[in-house]
Order: sequence, then structure tokens, then C-alpha cells
Amino acid sequence: MTASDFTGLLAAHRSIRQFHSRAVDHVLIDQVLEDSLHGSSSSGNLNMVSVIKTFDTERKAHLCKLHFDQPMVLQAPLVLTFCADSFRSRQWLAQRGARLNFGNLVSWHVASFDAIILAQTTALALESLGMGICYMGTTLHSMTEIAEYLECPDHCLPVTSMVVGWPAEAPAQRDRLPGAAWIHSERYRRPSADDIDRLFSAREVNGWNRYRSMGEDMVREMDEKGITSLAQYYTSDMKYPPQEFERDSQKLRALLEAKGFLP
Ligand SMILES: Cc1cc2nc3c(=O)[nH]c(=O)nc-3n(C[C@H](O)[C@H](O)[C@H](O)COP(=O)(O)O)c2cc1C
Repeated sequence: MTASDFTGLLAAHRSIRQFHSRAVDHVLIDQVLEDSLHGSSSSGNLNMVSVIKTFDTERKAHLCKLHFDQPMVLQAPLVLTFCADSFRSRQWLAQRGARLNFGNLVSWHVASFDAIILAQTTALALESLGMGICYMGTTLHSMTEIAEYLECPDHCLPVTSMVVGWPAEAPAQRDRLPGAAWIHSERYRRPSADDIDRLFSAREVNGWNRYRSMGEDMVREMDEKGITSLAQYYTSDMKYPPQEFERDSQKLRALLEAKGFLP
């Protein structure tokens, strides 16, 4: 693969939420996952990750509920759940009479980063084969329930999931904040109010238009709630309500404690 092939792969990225019924090959998926771990950096090369594949229709239906009923979970032939996992490493340490470690907040971060890095490498590898993926942030909000359903042991928690399949849609490319907003030279440069106006202007228009084009019900609800900008929409009860983030943050703290990452 040349550099321009890789640039082309990045440019072709779209989150895919509609899939053909065509199955994805089990052997191919295992190969992609193994290649992706080889192709990902891993902290200390400890490989503190686990990936749980869900192909089974009934089990996907259960996962779908935990993912806030997102229909793509039912439609996609495969759900991959990426876990931060120091359970296996700790078992290995114990069996070798080594000092136990990796049951603390730092290890949670280390294992989570490994899991996220692996997830993104896997995403690119699958996209390079023509498959489509979409991450599910709902993993964070249902972490307790997903961990329980997938029978994750102590020191192992799902950090992200993605649906995988053959794309049955070709959505337009979505914009991002311009480089000037987030690429800094030598030190952090705080944006002024004018910078914020300028840097968010395209996102504000594109994002607003996208949500407003999602149907009459959506527009009516936004209007009823007095939402007049993309920023207001993002923290409204329609998108990312602060009170739910606060509640789920408490849940996450309790879960990290229960699973041995926050002694
Ligand atoms: C961590 C993470 C969680 C996400 N969660 C969801 C989700 O729950 N549902 C969904 O439809 N898309 C989800 N997405 C996809 C984003 O909405 C998508 O990446 C973004 O809108 C940009 O679109 P693009 O990926 O097509 O460029 C998630 C993406 C990331 C990185």
C-alpha cells in the first residue's frame, strides 16, 4: 500500500449504519483482528485487551437493547466489543509468582488506550477490505450491563464497540473542525471568542443543517425545546444531556471500583 492509498482509505471513511445481509467471514475477522494487534502499538507490549465477537442473532438482539436500541446492531452481521483487560495479565503474573499489578487506575488507562488503539486499527483494516463499521459510544453508558452480559471478569471492561458488515449505504463525508482549531505549534494556544466564531462556523452550519434535515418530528422537538444552535442541541436532552453524563460518570466510578481498577 502506498502513502496515497492510505490517504485514499482515510478519505473514504464513513460511519456505516446500514448493512447488506451478506455474512462476514469468521476466519477473515479473526485474521483481521490478529493483524490489527500486530499493527498496533501496545503499552509495554502487555496486550491488555480482549475483543468479544457477537455473531449470534439473539445475542445481538440483547446487545441492541443495551446499545439504546440502535437498529444497526440488529442489521450488522457482527458486533465487536473491545475490552480493557488486565485480568489475563494478572492471572499470568500470579501463575509465575510475580508481584501483582495492573489493578489500579493507571492500568485502567493503559488497558483502555490499548483497546481503543486496537479498535481504530481494526476499523481501518476492515475498511481497507471494503467492509463498513460504526462505533457505539453507548458502550460507555451501558458498560455495567454489557460487561455482565458478556461475562467479563474483574479487571476487564468493555470500552468501545463497533458494528461490522458490508455497507448498504454510501453516506456523504462529514466535516471536521479545521486543523487551526486543534493543531498547536510548540504550546497550547487558547482560542479567543473571535477564533471560536471562526473555527466553529462551518461545523455549526453543517451540523445544524444535518440535524434539521432528519425529519419534521426532529425539527418540531428542537423548536419546542427552544434549541436555536448546534451547541445548544449538543447538550440538550435530545443529544447529550449533562445530567445523564453525570449519572453515568458515577456509575463508571462505581464499576471501576467493583471491577478492581479503583481500589
Ligand atoms: C467513540 C465513538 C462513539 C460513537 N458512537 C456512535 C453511536 O453510538 N451511534 C452512532 O450512530 N454513531 C456513533 N459514532 C459515529 C460518529 O457519529 C461519527 O464518527 C461522526 O458523526 C463522524 O462521522 P463519520 O465517522 O462518518 O466521519 C461514534 C464514533 C465514535 C468515535
